[in-house]
Amino acid sequence: MPVNNEDIAVIFDEMDESRFRSAFRQMKFMVVCLVVLIYAASTGGVMAQTQENIALPKILPGDEQALSQLLKQRRSVREFQDVSLSLEEIGQLLWAAQGITHPLGYRTAPSAGALYPLELYVVVGQVEGMDRGVYHYLAKEQRLVKTLDGDKRKRLARAAYWQSWISNASAVVVFAAVYKRTTRKYGSRGKRFVHIEVGHAAQNLFLQAVSLGLASVVVGAFGDDDVKDLLQLPDDVEPMIMMPVGKKAGR
Ligand SMILES: Cc1cc2nc3c(=O)[nH]c(=O)nc-3n(C[C@H](O)[C@H](O)[C@H](O)COP(=O)(O)O)c2cc1C
Repeated sequence: MPVNNEDIAVIFDEMDESRFRSAFRQMKFMVVCLVVLIYAASTGGVMAQTQENIALPKILPGDEQALSQLLKQRRSVREFQDVSLSLEEIGQLLWAAQGITHPLGYRTAPSAGALYPLELYVVVGQVEGMDRGVYHYLAKEQRLVKTLDGDKRKRLARAAYWQSWISNASAVVVFAAVYKRTTRKYGSRGKRFVHIEVGHAAQNLFLQAVSLGLASVVVGAFGDDDVKDLLQLPDDVEPMIMMPVGKKAGR
């Protein structure tokens, strides 16, 4: 059958239209995927919950005690039960120390210039649902990311001049800091600010531990290089103090 010029024009028009329709369908599909991805990312659903990357539960429901009671009860404890902490407890302790409490990124503890020089690591011995190892706390995501495998508590105790009881804690929170985040703005005085901030964050964790019926202690006597080597901290991250946490023995 002969095909005239007009027919050819119609055929081309139809092809253009069908190509346009299929491109439009593809675009619609991509937009839907993008919306789903953005939603999943905002709810934390897109990041896999693995042993390497642990989403921490948010704040525990309140069983609040008066602050004055917590202050009265706070005591350094160096004997721990051979039991596990829950993921909620670990999440809550870390949040208390450095959790984000404001859309602009402000945290539970004050920070000179809001520069946030602190980095928290957790040496996990016995925590439900977590492998033993070393984890880095990501405050912005309320998440832990594993940096090392294996039980490091004994070696940590050795690095703390053989304070052997440290290895009986269910977990040890190591407070480290990047000085230059603060000294860049405040010069040598920035070092003082960093040390003050460690104290603020540590006391937050301490009081939170008491309110959860847990026990802790501040440990400042350790070899900086030994702890840094053991935890394989980046060059500019300096260990400041550590806080073994667990349930008090003899209860
Ligand atoms: C900066 C600092 C470093 C500390 N270092 C250690 C330590 O290495 N080992 C230890 O067992 N206790 C350490 N402690 C805990 C103190 O010994 C303890 O706070 C003190 O005995 C008072 O007891 P309390 O905390 O029960 O009130 C340290 C406390 C601070 C504030």
